Amino acid sequence: MHLTNSLGELRSKDIGKTVVVAGWVNTKRNLGELIFVDLRDRSGISQIVLNKDNKNYEILNSVKNEYVLKVTGIVKERSNINENIPTGDIEIDILDIEIINKAKPLPLQIEDETEALEDTRLEYRYLDLRRSQMIDNLKKRHQIVQIIRNYLNDEGFLDVETPILSKATPEGARDYLVPSRVNKNACYALPQSPQVYKNLLMLGGVEKYYQIAKCFRDEDLRADRQPEFTQVDMEMSFLSQEEIMSLTEEMIKKIVLDVKGIDFKEKFLIMDYDEALREYGIDKPDIRFDLKLKEVSDVFKSSSFKVFAEAEMVKCINVKGEANNFSRKQIESLEEIAKKNHAKGLAWLKFDGEFTGPIAKFFSDEEKANLIKKANVNDGDLILFVADKSEVVNQSLAALRNHLGKELKLYDENELAFLWVVNWPMFEYDEELKRYFAVHHPFTMPQNNEFNMDDLLSTKAQAYDIVLNGFELGGGSIRINNSNLQKEMFDILSLKGEELEHFRFLLDAYEYGAPYHGGIALGLDRLVMLLTNSSSIRDVIAFPKNNKARELMMDSPSTVSKEQLEELNIQWIDNEDC
Ligand code: AMO
Ligand code: AMP
Repeated sequence: MHLTNSLGELRSKDIGKTVVVAGWVNTKRNLGELIFVDLRDRSGISQIVLNKDNKNYEILNSVKNEYVLKVTGIVKERSNINENIPTGDIEIDILDIEIINKAKPLPLQIEDETEALEDTRLEYRYLDLRRSQMIDNLKKRHQIVQIIRNYLNDEGFLDVETPILSKATPEGARDYLVPSRVNKNACYALPQSPQVYKNLLMLGGVEKYYQIAKCFRDEDLRADRQPEFTQVDMEMSFLSQEEIMSLTEEMIKKIVLDVKGIDFKEKFLIMDYDEALREYGIDKPDIRFDLKLKEVSDVFKSSSFKVFAEAEMVKCINVKGEANNFSRKQIESLEEIAKKNHAKGLAWLKFDGEFTGPIAKFFSDEEKANLIKKANVNDGDLILFVADKSEVVNQSLAALRNHLGKELKLYDENELAFLWVVNWPMFEYDEELKRYFAVHHPFTMPQNNEFNMDDLLSTKAQAYDIVLNGFELGGGSIRINNSNLQKEMFDILSLKGEELEHFRFLLDAYEYGAPYHGGIALGLDRLVMLLTNSSSIRDVIAFPKNNKARELMMDSPSTVSKEQLEELNIQWIDNEDC
């Protein structure tokens, strides 16, 4: 018999119907006269019931959690209604029952909130996925992808697949390499993004491209980073930066409306990169709360507190009204956060008519008065300082700001705060390697379509990032579409010899008529994570890797046979690892 219904859809209107359903035993209660089982499929739970006289009594009595059952029964009104589940008005009175499969006792419980270790969840991912929270995340992910596809299809985009066995493209991470058997001693690289291909699709006349694209980056992993992840990758010809931003924004608004029921009428805020760094210390500020950084270098430039006077930069956070809520011990734990982010320490003052704290004695009346003015100090305030190189000051105080925002509950967990960050610098300089790197990537068009060769660090990019609640959700740019400018860019980035030859085809391609074009890529996993209030992208990916880049269920990566390696002309240097 075919199934007639899913287990989450039955309601009182179905009372009297004969139904055939199937699912997993969620819980069983044997009351002697009656046996109740909550049967679960991906849509929800229905209670099935039989009494002692039923011919199937012994069968149902024998089932255990996670057995798979197929049941024929009649939908009945439930005597004690369960208001906690949508099917709580009804139950299914069993006519016939079949055990499809038994289940051993499980290594983890199938429950909404789990206390199982994440490694256990990943090893038994097929069990973890049965938890309603995980299934719901996959459903949301599916829904979001469908909204994106519909939106972009309606806007005239073509979904084009690009190669996975590809060649290194510079997105700033290490490549995953795949040795070729046919072409001895040569490797494919898995794409860090389809960037070069999508540029070339524009040269190929595709005009509007998108792809739900797998990307691979060998980099240090975090809660919002996986070695393989998915981008909503887009590229458009003949559109300006404003048009690309606006189209992306409309798509995101549509997703948020359909998924969360939140109707954003206003345009997303647009912030200069410089302002983000100045006020928040970070290029992806969480603007759900204030608590901005204040630079006070000037106040202390001739101070007797040498840590401040001699530093390149001193900034502070004024934690308003919290002086009495932070003990020395609590401030020490804040200092740990600053130190984890490379600060040498975290200096602090409290104010209540006068400044107190271990460093208060160092400051003159003038310095104190200026600090009060600059940092808007009032009674009851706690002021936290970091003095160091600007990067360290910004990074450590930004981390502290995010921590305090969460700890002091300065925002509503359900709020969504989108932000565009624009006017990025083109380059950063690596003091150790003594060379420039592209802040975005090497195909990004500089503002005014030229580089400021006298001061490369002041050259701005036609690049834009979209930020959501302090996470970088996506990034994009207008691209260089001219061979000379691209060559100049490669020169600035010290791309020479063989490395430059890798991109000869691109320089050539621009010689055959190139439209102006630009695009963006959104991190799909991050978007789904934030829209499902998940704390890690691992919770919105069916089979993610752990923080050691291992997939624990299949246990990959794994060793391979000697024969396979020989075919590839490969020998491990350290044979013990084999
Ligand atoms: P970018 O490198 O900024 O841009 O990547 C775009 C977005 O992809 C997501 N992302 C990741 N998500 C999970 N795990 C990772 N390891 C990871 N790395 C990046 C982020 C990020 O904002 N080709 C350009 C886009 C363009 O210029 O059009 C690119 O890849 O959400
Ligand atoms: P010290 O003089 O090393 O005992 O430091 C006095 C206080 O200043 C301590 O609270 C340190 O944590 C703090 N401190 C030390 N170095 C820095 C720094 N670079 N920035 C901010 N605070 C610092």
